[in-house]
Amino acid sequence: MYQLIYVSSSTETFTREKFLDLAFVMSSQNTKIGITGMLVFKDGNFMEVLEGEESAVKELFSKIHVDPRHTLVSVIQEGDISAREYSSWAMTFYNSATEQYEHVGSPIQWKDNS
Ligand SMILES: Cc1cc2nc3c(=O)[nH]c(=O)nc-3n(C[C@H](O)[C@H](O)[C@H](O)COP(=O)(O)O)c2cc1C
Repeated sequence: MYQLIYVSSSTETFTREKFLDLAFVMSSQNTKIGITGMLVFKDGNFMEVLEGEESAVKELFSKIHVDPRHTLVSVIQEGDISAREYSSWAMTFYNSATEQYEHVGSPIQWKDNS
């Protein structure tokens, strides 16, 4: 099992609605390829944790890395882990109007066959 954590800065304004649109597309794509983790957006910055098979994590990150919707993509941690730390995909949006973190979407529980 492999984990990669990065931070980045958005290049466009992410309203709550826009974040939700992005987040929901991701959650279904990630489920298909066995990726769990979490994505947080706050004050124009993203932090994302991706977990899964090493090849799946690296292939997905190579796409994310060049996505023009963000820049200054910086990996803060990467390597093997013994088990998933996130058993579902979680998305969190910091709402500056309410000064609260909102968890969005219903958690999708992932079950490894091992
Ligand atoms: C901050 C950020 C995080 C992203 N995270 C994911 C993700 O977890 N899973 C995903 O499939 N796409 C994610 N994307 C979108 C990818 O960059 C890319 O658009 C998507 O994988 C579709 O690629 P494809 O059309 O080549 O399959 C993210 C984009 C941004 C800007």
